Amino acid sequence: MFIISDNFNELRKYISLWKQKKYRVGFIPTMGNLHSGHLRLIEQIKKRDVDKTIVSIFVNPRQFGPNEDYTNYPRTLEDDIKKLRDLDVDLLFCPDKDLMYPIQNAGELKIDNKILMNDLCGSNRVGHFNGVLLVVNKLFNLLQPNIVIFGQKDYQQYLIIKNMVENLFMPIELILSPIIREIDGLAMSSRNKYLNKNEREKAPKLNKSLITIKDKILQHPDKFHSILENQISELEKDGFFIDYFELRHKNNLSIVENFNYENKKYILLIAAKIGNTRLIDNIIL
Ligand code: PAJ
Repeated sequence: MFIISDNFNELRKYISLWKQKKYRVGFIPTMGNLHSGHLRLIEQIKKRDVDKTIVSIFVNPRQFGPNEDYTNYPRTLEDDIKKLRDLDVDLLFCPDKDLMYPIQNAGELKIDNKILMNDLCGSNRVGHFNGVLLVVNKLFNLLQPNIVIFGQKDYQQYLIIKNMVENLFMPIELILSPIIREIDGLAMSSRNKYLNKNEREKAPKLNKSLITIKDKILQHPDKFHSILENQISELEKDGFFIDYFELRHKNNLSIVENFNYENKKYILLIAAKIGNTRLIDNIIL
């Protein structure tokens, strides 16, 4: 049976029944407009030891800045429902804004880590991660999942949530899932829909740059600053506006002073605008 719920009472009824039966609940939070990247997360969690799978679709107003795309964000609930039904999801939770935020602007959440909260995407999207933490916290409290999956595409988001789960002793297992890409390498994203033909043709250059830079840095580790600077100039000549393109430590996103290669110790992250569309991508070294 596929349950679609937009109210707390109904939801709580199922959750408490499942808890009574000692079912393990897997959860995938999303903002909808589901693409293969999202669907892969669902497939992956179903392979784990779970009895029930919940997906949420909620375009969270608190994680969008005043000049961002909250109003235009693609909302395709009917199509999403079809996809979830095909994947045998047990429950879709799709609340409206007033249900999730009954009191205007009440509450704020942050973790005590300036780099994770305020650097990289946190510096370009002020308040974004407070909004993410708040909504994910509300969803965790409501749905009480045992296991939750997040995509590597939003790696900083994953680390922030991991930090929250660990520091608050939340009994939740977190899984990180690899980035799902289009054939030409562009990381799948609901925002790719905003790209016009010309922008869409250029967009895979972000992923190509990550791959090229990874190889160059591994060959010339002492020159990683200049390698990155040159690549930023190249991308700017191509019409990208670069928010950041940086090499960071993978475990906490701290700045790299000296590069001493060890497998999976580092991550290259990029955020760039083409026209009005902001895209992000990353690659682990
Ligand atoms: P959304 O952008 O819809 O993404 C939902 C989940 O799908 C996130 O964990 C994201 O990292 C993952 N995802 C998106 N594109 C992906 C891709 N190409 N490959 C792999 N995973 C991908 O992230 C959010 O929503 C929100 O911030 C949310 C966590 C739901 C809180 O509102």
